[in-house]
Amino acid sequence: MNLSVKIGKMRMQNPVTVASGTFGYGEEYSRLIDLNQLGAVTVKGIRLNPVRGNPTPRTAEVASGMLNAIGLQGPGVDGFIKKYWPFLRELKVPTIINIWGTTVEEYAEVAQRFDALGGVGALELNVSCPNIKEGGAQFGTDMKLLGQVVAACRRATRLPLITKMSPNVVRILPFVKVAADAGSDAVSIMNSYPAMAIDIETRRPKLANVIGGLTGPCIKPIAIKLVWEAAQAVKIPVIGMGGIQNAADAIEFMMAGATAVAVGTANFYEPQTPLQVIAGIRNFMKRKQIGDVSEMIRSVQVVGA
Ligand SMILES: Cc1cc2nc3c(=O)[nH]c(=O)nc-3n(C[C@H](O)[C@H](O)[C@H](O)COP(=O)(O)O)c2cc1C
Repeated sequence: MNLSVKIGKMRMQNPVTVASGTFGYGEEYSRLIDLNQLGAVTVKGIRLNPVRGNPTPRTAEVASGMLNAIGLQGPGVDGFIKKYWPFLRELKVPTIINIWGTTVEEYAEVAQRFDALGGVGALELNVSCPNIKEGGAQFGTDMKLLGQVVAACRRATRLPLITKMSPNVVRILPFVKVAADAGSDAVSIMNSYPAMAIDIETRRPKLANVIGGLTGPCIKPIAIKLVWEAAQAVKIPVIGMGGIQNAADAIEFMMAGATAVAVGTANFYEPQTPLQVIAGIRNFMKRKQIGDVSEMIRSVQVVGA
């Protein structure tokens, strides 16, 4: 039985990774789960300099999901390399480094730094953050900026590039095409959806930042639809994520068109979820006599399509 997949030139022993920001920098989870059994470890977003993040409360539970506004807290490139890379580079599985910036130039510089480090599996571009030079417009919801940021990172590195798509657009297809045309080796779908919740007793927003990102099972059907649309439009692989709690959810993403999947919010209440998903995919393949995991990708049968 073959579970391995490729994202650009990065080989994953199985199609399951973890979603950026829900798994620390890997080491924090290493006593709870055997990291070497994952397809890849994906770390929290890194920009050039350290970031303190938003005031608390930064998270709130909502029906079938959660809101977060962490504010992209992180150690910066140097802090990451010093504190977390010595552990990650010894792993048998690739590390996907999630990167971001506030200008196109910053993205490119961060990409170049990780290229020079050697041994990184792939870079995932978080484009759901504001551009300070363009009045705070998000890179991922502006086609011109998205094309510029992917192209600049493409020039800065030969590492596989995964562009993490924002769901906060009317139609995702043109954005996915822009990412592919600018040199992205894959796209990941989806990032959190902008949302808000209010505590009616205090009349205050549940997050200090007021607005946060919605994640967890409540976003899964949205993510499945976006993956399905994207996979029909571009040849590059799609990494599916949004509310995966078990193998059935992951298989649903693969049937919609995902080559690989990521477990996010579920890591907070059951850190074993990614391994349970891998075991469940294996069982499903056995039961359905599927020899290669790639047979499941985009295998949904839409009547009349
Ligand atoms: C607390 C938290 C922090 C996150 N931080 C990042 C991040 O730094 N970079 C990024 O691209 N996505 C980040 N995400 C988005 C996730 O990687 C993922 O796209 C999203 O949570 C959907 O998957 P899920 O429903 O399985 O959690 C974060 C999500 C959560 C819940």
